[in-house]
Amino acid sequence: MKTGNSNGSNRGLWATRLGFILAASGSAVGLGNVWKFPYITGQNGGGAFVLVYLLCIAVVGLPIMLTEFTIGRRTGLNPVGAFRALAPGTPWVVIGFMGVLAGFLILSFYSVVGGWTLAYVIKAVTGGMSTFTSPQIAGEFFGSFISDTPQVLLFHTAFMILTMGIVLRGIHGGIEKACDILMPTLVVMLLLLMVRSLTLDGAMEGVKFYLSPDFSKIDGSVILMAMGQAFFSLSLGMGCLITYASYLPPEENLTSATVYVVLFDTGIALLMGMVIFPAVFAVGMEPTEGPSLVFSVLPTVFTQMPFGFVVSIVFFILLAIAALTSAISLMEAVAAFFIDQFGWERKKAVWVMGATIYLFGIPSGLSFGLLADVKFFDKTFFDVVDNIASNYLLPLGGMLTAIFVGWWWGTDNAHKEIERHETTFRWAKAWEFLIKFVSPIAVFLVFLGHFF
Ligand code: PHE
Repeated sequence: MKTGNSNGSNRGLWATRLGFILAASGSAVGLGNVWKFPYITGQNGGGAFVLVYLLCIAVVGLPIMLTEFTIGRRTGLNPVGAFRALAPGTPWVVIGFMGVLAGFLILSFYSVVGGWTLAYVIKAVTGGMSTFTSPQIAGEFFGSFISDTPQVLLFHTAFMILTMGIVLRGIHGGIEKACDILMPTLVVMLLLLMVRSLTLDGAMEGVKFYLSPDFSKIDGSVILMAMGQAFFSLSLGMGCLITYASYLPPEENLTSATVYVVLFDTGIALLMGMVIFPAVFAVGMEPTEGPSLVFSVLPTVFTQMPFGFVVSIVFFILLAIAALTSAISLMEAVAAFFIDQFGWERKKAVWVMGATIYLFGIPSGLSFGLLADVKFFDKTFFDVVDNIASNYLLPLGGMLTAIFVGWWWGTDNAHKEIERHETTFRWAKAWEFLIKFVSPIAVFLVFLGHFF
C-alpha cells in the first residue's frame, strides 16, 4: 500500500484507494452482519453453520468478488451495460437484469429492518431502553413494536427517504468520509460489547454453541442458507460491486481490495457472533429466536454494563448508519440501471424506483403484525422476498458471473485487467481454478442438494 507522503499525487492515490475500500466495505457491512448473521446462525445450529459459511466465503465469495471488481473496472458501467459491453448481442445480459431485480427485492425488506434500527436509536436516546432489564421485557417490546403498523410504516418511510436523499445527492462525498470514522468505531464498539458478553455468568455455553460444530444439524437447506448469507453479506451476485468498481482508477490493486473487504466483512460478522451468543445463553434465551434475536438480547446487555445508556445510543446509531451505507449501494445499483439504460435523469430514477421499492416493502413491514398469518409455502411475505433474493437470485447471479468470466469472456482477459497497472496477480492460477470450476460447481451442487 502506498503511504501518504508530502507528494500530492501519492496522497491523492491513497485516498482514492482507501475511499473505494471503505465504500465497498460500507456496502458489505450492514444488517447482514449485525442482525442477520447471528439470527440465522442461531436458527441453523451454531458452529457447524459458521464453518459452512466460512467455506462459502473462501471458495465462492472471495473469487467472485474479485471477478465483479474486475468486470466493473474494465467496463466502467452498471451491470447491465457491463455484460452488454463484454458480450454484445448475447443473453449474458440477463445476469445484469437479475441483479437489478435482486437489488429491488432486497432493498424493499432491508428498508423495513433499517427502519427498526432508526426506531431503536430514538428509543435509546429517550432512555426507554433502561427498562429492558430482562430479555423477556425487551422481547415483548420488540414484538409489539414490529407488529404496530403505523410505527413500522413510519420508520420504513423514514429509512427509505434517508436512502433516497443520499443517493439523489450522489454518494461520493459525505458517505465515504463518514465510513472512515464509522467503520473503526463499529469495530471498537463490538470489541467492547464482546468483553461485556463474555464476562456475563453462563457466557461459556454460548461460546460452545457458537464455536463447536455439531454436523448433525447440517442438511441441504442449511447449506443453501449459509451460501445465500455469504452472498448477501458480501453484497455479491447482483452487480452492486460491479457498479462500485466502475468508478475505480486503473492503479487500484483489485486483489488486495478484495481481501480487505472480505476480511473486514467476515471479521465483523464473526465478532458479532461472539457478542450475541454468550449473551443469549447468559440471559437464558433461545438462540433460535429469529429476527428479534439482536433486538431483544443487546438492549438487555446494555442495561447490565457501565455507561450502558451511552453505549446503546452509539451502537444503534452505528447500526443505522451501517444499514444506510448498504441500502445506498442497493438503491444506487437499481438507479444506475435506469439512468444508463433508459436515459432517465438521476432524480427521476431515484424517485420513481425508490417509491416503487418503498411500496413493495410495505407487505414485508406488515409481515410481523397485520399480515403475520398470511403465508406462502409456510413463509411470511418478508421471508419469501428475502429467500428468493438472497438464497436464489444472488447465488445464481454469482454462478453465472463465474461461468461468464471463466468460460466466455475468458480468465486471460480478466487476468490482464487485474494486472493492468503493474500489479502482479500472484494467485492467478488458484483464482482461475476457483472461478472456472469450484465456484460454479459448488453453487450448482448446493442448489441440487436443496431441491433433491
Ligand atoms: N451486504 C449488505 C449487508 O450485509 C446487504 C447487501 C446485499 C447490500 C446485496 C448490497 C447488495 O447488510
